[in-house]
Amino acid sequence: MTNPTRSAAQSAASQSSPLSADPSARRIGIDAMAFAVPRGYLALADLAAVRGVPAAKYEQGLGVTQMAVAGPDEDPVTLAVDAARQLLTGAGRSPAEIGLCIVGTETAVDHSKPIASYLHGLLGLPSACRVFETKHACFGGTAGLQNALDWIASGSARGRAALIVCTDIARYSLNSAGEPTQGAGAVAMLVSENPRLVDLEVGRSGCFSANVHDFWRPLYRKDALVDGHFSVQCYLDALSGAYAEWRALNPDTDEADRLVRTCYHVPYGKMAKKAHARRCQIDGLDEAAADASYEREVEPSLRLPSQVGNIYTGSLYLALLSLLHHQAGELAGKRVGLFSYGSGCAAEFFAGRVRPEAAALLSAMDVTAPLRLRQRLSFPEYEALRTGDAQADQRPAEAAETAAPGAALKLPELRPRYFGIDPQERRIYAVQ
Ligand code: CAA
Repeated sequence: MTNPTRSAAQSAASQSSPLSADPSARRIGIDAMAFAVPRGYLALADLAAVRGVPAAKYEQGLGVTQMAVAGPDEDPVTLAVDAARQLLTGAGRSPAEIGLCIVGTETAVDHSKPIASYLHGLLGLPSACRVFETKHACFGGTAGLQNALDWIASGSARGRAALIVCTDIARYSLNSAGEPTQGAGAVAMLVSENPRLVDLEVGRSGCFSANVHDFWRPLYRKDALVDGHFSVQCYLDALSGAYAEWRALNPDTDEADRLVRTCYHVPYGKMAKKAHARRCQIDGLDEAAADASYEREVEPSLRLPSQVGNIYTGSLYLALLSLLHHQAGELAGKRVGLFSYGSGCAAEFFAGRVRPEAAALLSAMDVTAPLRLRQRLSFPEYEALRTGDAQADQRPAEAAETAAPGAALKLPELRPRYFGIDPQERRIYAVQ
């Protein structure tokens, strides 16, 4: 890639980035990752059969084969706790090390009380900890991650680590065009100095924002509303804008600076393919070169997302985990790009380098275990769960066991659980 113009923004960044004076002096980034999914999933072929469309439209046309479906005792809090517990246990880190806990979500369970507070309590994080929730559609997790990087770079962390959890349930109306792009899950990331997975480049992001109505969820709705084809256009426009700023800030004059892989926000796999095609076009590649580049540089990141569906804030990070799970060894020391998009809209393009320790750490953590514990739902089971969603937030805790559709599904041990609300309308959780 050539970058003909070294812009004012680039010069400003090289003067003002907290790490730019000596970029090798401090390493900050993602130390460990884990994800959680609900125990049920629907095969997209089963959905296609009922909706009367060829399975190929969902599986190849959208690039999704399975979508995770939350049960009556699973919600964004339980998914967040599940992912965070796997992270801390698998990475051998203690809750006592956490000084910042941010939950990115667009599936809040309360207008006021953040999911981060439930997480803080259920994990036993220290009381001397900054805890909050971030929202900007699917960009909320990246807002949390960037905040954590700045918190460490500024010195506020004082040696502590940040816990960033992206957790969401993606719901569209039954029988709508968005239905095959649903999903549910959480990704937890430990962000620290001297990370073992990816060193991230602080202060060198390209950003793009605009006020657009491509996707929204009014306060009174559980299902999102979306202007589907317009949202695709907004995503691509935001990518072009964020990538343009990133290129201006990051001239890759050296082969070692080349982005050898890029992970994109993945509402469905085909969207990442369209995004990469747009980037290749900007970089001056022809269609054949763009297709080859997609297979090499993007496809490995889509393998886990294709089995989970859209998890909104966590989608980009599930893509990163997929890439690292499959290729961390060969990518040691290499630079990867990351593109985050949140409808509404906000976007950010940034980059990092894979650590040599990453492959061994992820293999020891057995990060894909959650997918092995799942049960395939029939279409009627899926439909019953989705119909029952409407009552979930007001369900009395004592009635949860018997009244909730799908309650009979077996719950693996050690999973956090949502019971319903108590007489004061407080949500009740338990971690077994
Ligand atoms: N075999 C193979 N492919 C087939 C096929 C078949 N039999 N039939 C159709 N296809 C292909 C189509 O050619 C199309 O591919 P291209 O996009 O490459 O042309 C693809 O399948 C989808 O077909 P349609 O465009 O006809 O699908 P649709 O109109 O029913 O819905 C959608 C597609 C608009 C993305 C819809 O699923 C939707 O609204 N999803 C939710 C919104 C969304 O995810 N937007 C993404 C950008 S916004 C964002 O990223 C934020 C976020 O997380 C929501």
